[in-house]
Amino acid sequence: MNRPIFLIGYMGSGKSSLGRQLAREMGRDFIDLDKYIETRFHSTVKQIFDERGEDGFRTIERNMIHEVAEFQDVIVACGGGTPCYYDNMDFMLSHGLTIYLDVQPEILALRLALPGSRTKRPLIAGKSDKELLDFVRDGLQKRLQHYTRAEIIFNATHLLNKSETIQTALQLAQIITEHENSHMQQ
Ligand code: S3P
Repeated sequence: MNRPIFLIGYMGSGKSSLGRQLAREMGRDFIDLDKYIETRFHSTVKQIFDERGEDGFRTIERNMIHEVAEFQDVIVACGGGTPCYYDNMDFMLSHGLTIYLDVQPEILALRLALPGSRTKRPLIAGKSDKELLDFVRDGLQKRLQHYTRAEIIFNATHLLNKSETIQTALQLAQIITEHENSHMQQ
């Protein structure tokens, strides 16, 4: 049995796309925490924000990270805010392998400006491209104190297309294997 892998990072850092590919390569199950919440609560993240407010969403998110941490051999793509609320980061550090996907704010903002990206994310819905970049710069700066506590910090800039994503996932899989081997020897 392998401890869960938690992918953390800002919105648009590639947690879901890279995580899905990584799970394929490592033969693990993939869980997208937002999708898991949506299935469990029969509601979209946007609806949960609308009906229960952000605080309500954060409580659900906290409970669900505890639930998925029980599963074996999983790769979990967290939401961008997951490590920044409650004691979620401490919990993930003690229950699995945490990996921060490090991406510059300018690239995050470009990815988040793609069609459809803003509508499903309540925190950036309705922002112009300029407002988006300011929001990402500011938000990332505040969240870095949590993200950088991860056991592994991985540069996830190169995820432009399928072949880049496969290449990047292969690199990350190798880093994880080496890290887990040295962890087992300690
Ligand atoms: C959030 C990120 C979203 C989602 C929610 C809040 C955040 O997930 O959990 O909209 O606080 O950064 P993604 O990082 O997958 O977009």
